[in-house]
Amino acid sequence: MDNCFACHSLRTPLTDGITPNSAFLDQFSPSFLSQPMYHVDGQIKEEVYVYGSFLQSKMFHAGVNCIDCHNQHTMKIKVQGNGLCLQCHNAEVYQQPAHLNHPEDSAGGQCINCHMPEKTYMGVDARRDHSFRIPRPELTQAYQAPNTCNTCHQDKSASWAKNQITKLYGNNNPLSKTEADLIKLQHQFMLPLDQHLAIINDKNINEIYRASAIALLPNSAQELSDVQIKNWVNSSEPLIRLATAQVGFLLPIAERSKSYLSLLTDEFKAVRVQAANHLLQLGLNHSTQLEQAFDELISSHQVSMWRGEGGLNMSMVQLNLQQLDPAIQSLQHSINVDPYFPAAYINLADIYRRSQAPEKESATYQKGIAANPKSGILHYSFGLHQIRNGEKQASLNSFKQAIKFEL
Ligand code: HEC
Ligand code: HEC
Ligand code: HEC
Ligand code: HEC
Ligand code: HEC
Repeated sequence: MDNCFACHSLRTPLTDGITPNSAFLDQFSPSFLSQPMYHVDGQIKEEVYVYGSFLQSKMFHAGVNCIDCHNQHTMKIKVQGNGLCLQCHNAEVYQQPAHLNHPEDSAGGQCINCHMPEKTYMGVDARRDHSFRIPRPELTQAYQAPNTCNTCHQDKSASWAKNQITKLYGNNNPLSKTEADLIKLQHQFMLPLDQHLAIINDKNINEIYRASAIALLPNSAQELSDVQIKNWVNSSEPLIRLATAQVGFLLPIAERSKSYLSLLTDEFKAVRVQAANHLLQLGLNHSTQLEQAFDELISSHQVSMWRGEGGLNMSMVQLNLQQLDPAIQSLQHSINVDPYFPAAYINLADIYRRSQAPEKESATYQKGIAANPKSGILHYSFGLHQIRNGEKQASLNSFKQAIKFEL
C-alpha cells in the first residue's frame, strides 16, 4: 500500500523522485488531519487524496488493501455496485431493506453513497471519501460537518436525518468520549490538557486520530515534559512518533535532550528529520546522530527548493543555526521561484525588521503586494510595519485591504 500512498496522499517529499518498494515514511512526510483540509470529524473537505482518509477507516486497521477493491492493473473497481462491498460484508445483513432502506437498485441503496460519499472539486474531480464512515447527522447539528443523508435529502433537516437513523438502525455506534473530544479539538475548542492527553493515550482510537491530536497540542499546552511524551517516543506506531517529533518545540531544550533524542535514530527518515529540526539548538557537534539527521534534513529541503516552501523551510533551519545571510538568500530564492507565495516575503521582511533595516522591510512588503495584491496577510503585515514606522494613515489603508481580502 505504501506504493499507492506515494502518490495518493497529501505529503511533503523527503527525497528526489519515488523509489518503489521503499517505505512511504522514508520518502515522504504525510500531513495529519487538520482544518481546513478536513472537516472536524475527518471527512474530506479540500483535495486530500486517499491516505489520510483510508488510515481513519476500520478497514485499513483490519488489513483491507487498495487492491481488495481496485484491479491491480487498471485501477478500476473490481465489482460494480454493492457486490464490491459484499465480497466481505454479509449480504444477509447489509443487502437487506432493513439496512439499505432504499430500493436496492436506486442511488440511495448503494453502499458507497452512504459510506463513501462523493465530493467534486473544481467541477470535474469527483473524489470518494475513503474513510468509510457511518453517517452522523448529529455532527451536522453540532459542527456543520456534512452528512451524506442530507447531501441527497437537501429539503430535510439534520435532525430529521438523525431521527430517521435512530428509528431505522437504532443508533448502535455512538462516539466514545475521547472520539467526541477529538472532534471538539479539531473544532478549535480549548480542552483542558488532561482531556487532550486522554485522547492521545486512548488505544481504542486509531493511529492517525491520535497522531493528529498530538499535532494539535499547541492548542492546549504551552509546554510539555519528557514524562508526558516518553510513551509516544517509544510507540510502535510510526505516526505517533512522527507527530511527537513535530511538536518538539513544546519541550524546553533540557527536556528535549532526554527521550526525545532517540527520535534522531528512528527507523523512518520522516521522523528523524523532524526531530533534527528541533534539536539544532544543541549545536551540530552535539552528536553524530544529530549530524546525520541534520544532513537528511538539509537534503529533504533541497529537493523542494523549486517550490516556495523549500526555500522557506531551509531559511528556518538556517535561522535556527543563527546563519542570517544564508537565510536571507534562501528566502530570496523562494521568492524568485514562486513569487505567489506570501509567506516568503513575510519571513524575509521579518528578518529585516529584526536586523533594523526598515527600508528593506518595507520594500519586501511592497514587492510581495505587487505580486500578490489579494493577499490579506501581506497587507496586514505591511500595516503592522507601517504602524511601527509611524505611518498611521497608510497603515489604516493596509488594514482595510487586509479585511477586504481576508487574512
Ligand atoms: C507514481 C504515482 C502513482 C502511484 C504510485 C499510484 N498512482 Fe494511482 N493515480 C495516479 C495519478 C496521477 C492518477 C490520476 C489522478 C487522480 O485521479 O488522482 C491516479 C489515478 C488512480 C485511480 C483512479 C483511476 C480511474 O480510473 O479513475 C485509482 C483507483 C488509483 N490511482 C489507485 C492506485 C492504487 C491502488 C495504487 C497502488 C497500487 C496507485 N494508484 C499508485 C498516480 C499514482
Ligand atoms: C476485503 C474485505 C472488505 C471489503 C471489500 C469491504 N470491507 Fe468494509 N470492512 C471490512 C472489515 C474487515 C471491517 C472492519 C470490521 C471491524 O473492525 O469490526 C470493515 C468495516 C466496515 C465499516 C464499519 C466502519 C465503522 O466505523 O464501524 C463500514 C461502514 C464498511 N466496512 C463499509 C464498506 C463498504 C461501503 C465497502 C464497499 C465499498 C466495503 N466496506 C468493502 C472488510 C471489507
Ligand atoms: C441509506 C444509507 C446506507 C446504505 C445504503 C448502507 N448503509 Fe451501512 N450503515 C448505515 C448507517 C446509518 C449505519 C450506522 C448504523 C448504526 O449506527 O446503528 C451503517 C452501518 C454499517 C456498518 C457498520 C457496522 C454496523 O452494522 O453497525 C457496516 C459494516 C455497513 N453499514 C456496511 C454496509 C454495506 C456493505 C452496505 C451495502 C450493501 C451498506 N452498509 C449500505 C447506512 C447505510
Ligand atoms: C472498500 C473498497 C475500496 C478500497 C479498500 C479502496 N478504494 Fe479507492 N475507490 C473505491 C471506490 C468505490 C471508488 C469510486 C470508483 C468509481 O466511482 O468508479 C474509488 C476511487 C478511488 C480513486 C479515484 C478518485 C477518488 O478519490 O474517488 C482513487 C485515486 C482511489 N480510489 C485510490 C485508492 C487507494 C490508493 C486505495 C488504498 C490506499 C483505495 N483506493 C482503497 C473503493 C475502494
Ligand atoms: C444518493 C442519495 C441518497 C442518500 C445518500 C440517502 N438517500 Fe434517502 N432517499 C433518496 C431518494 C432519491 C429517496 C426517494 C425515492 C427512493 O425511495 O428511492 C429517498 C428516500 C428516503 C426515505 C423515505 C422517503 C422520505 O422522504 O421520507 C427516507 C426515510 C430516507 N430516504 C432516509 C435516508 C437517510 C436516513 C439517509 C442517510 C443514512 C439517506 N436517506 C441517504 C436518496 C438518498
